[in-house]
Amino acid sequence: MTELAGERINLSAPWIDERDEELVLEVLRSGWLSLGPTGPRFESLLADAVGAPYCAAVSSGTAGLHLCMRLVGVGPGDEVITSPYSFVASANCAIYEGATPVFADIDPHTYNLDPAAVEAAITPRTKAIVAVDIFGYPAEYDALIALCDRHGIALVEDSCEALGAEYKGRRLGSHGHPAVWAFYPNKQMTTGEGGAVTTASEEQHELLVSLRNQGRLETSSWLQHGRLGFNYRLDDLSAALGIGQLEKLDRILDARRAVAASYGELLADVDVEVPLADDADHVRSWFVYVVKLPAGVDRGGVMRRLADDGIATAPYLPSIHLQSYMRERYGFSEGMLPVSEDCSARTLALPFHARLPREDQERVADALRRAIA
Ligand SMILES: Cc1ncc(COP(=O)(O)O)c(C=O)c1O
Repeated sequence: MTELAGERINLSAPWIDERDEELVLEVLRSGWLSLGPTGPRFESLLADAVGAPYCAAVSSGTAGLHLCMRLVGVGPGDEVITSPYSFVASANCAIYEGATPVFADIDPHTYNLDPAAVEAAITPRTKAIVAVDIFGYPAEYDALIALCDRHGIALVEDSCEALGAEYKGRRLGSHGHPAVWAFYPNKQMTTGEGGAVTTASEEQHELLVSLRNQGRLETSSWLQHGRLGFNYRLDDLSAALGIGQLEKLDRILDARRAVAASYGELLADVDVEVPLADDADHVRSWFVYVVKLPAGVDRGGVMRRLADDGIATAPYLPSIHLQSYMRERYGFSEGMLPVSEDCSARTLALPFHARLPREDQERVADALRRAIA
């Protein structure tokens, strides 16, 4: 271990301020810690922020994805197509309902589902597509929606990493299909743990509200349950923090965009592929800053050198189909999804958050330049 050049630089950090503290304290002092008035206030602000008519807050992004499988009727024997280059929850939600996850390969630059690969993976058993906006970059919705319409398949958007991103001039969440959001502390905004599902349909929203609260019917009296549900509620303390975060969401997103732009400059002469730039159809919401190392570079060695300099990095993202439980359950193996596997072997997340100081970014860029050379 060499002597650290400065303070340790962490991968991520939430932006929590006095306003957040005040809002959480207010709920704490009110004594109404769950199913109070704060949850609906948070839901209404979030619906406005993404341009969706309805929003149901839930206990996590994973819970939201699981409920979406119920929403679109996924069950035993069905297949659900999703991206292998994502967080495991994008695929696990199908397994929870007895369906089989089917992985389609990704585009090597957007890291999102390649619509042609999705089309090739459709079978008579395909019930839904879970499209992921990985690292906050919008997936190809026009092509995916067209596929879903043509084949009678449901589309669910895993936008857990993409709050604030836009596709074709409109915020993700406003394109008609259910979209799932997540608020773990490394996300653009946080509620501690927490998530939400936004929908355009009142009927879907009512089903979500019932399913997250143990299957209670809106009309039923206390402890009358009309269907099998879950406890996937978001408590009011978390919702209060969510309100504080939404109040400053634009500032958070701007700050993250500025850090990304500054990384782009600092890494211009470093031999890595930096994240894809926005274009007329895609505006990213910056979640993590992931670079792709040149083929043949020893990523483990690079990570160790950065760690020696006090810099945290992560091998984002392993391909889901190669996780041990996936191999055991479905017999998946190397070579099935070459683009995803190649990206998984070469991509690296650098420290990234809204208030990462320029001098820390310089330290990261210098250390990366040295490690690769
Ligand atoms: C793409 C994606 N999907 C789903 C999730 C699950 O969210 P949560 O951790 O809130 O369950 C995450 C969170 O990391 C994610 O990044």
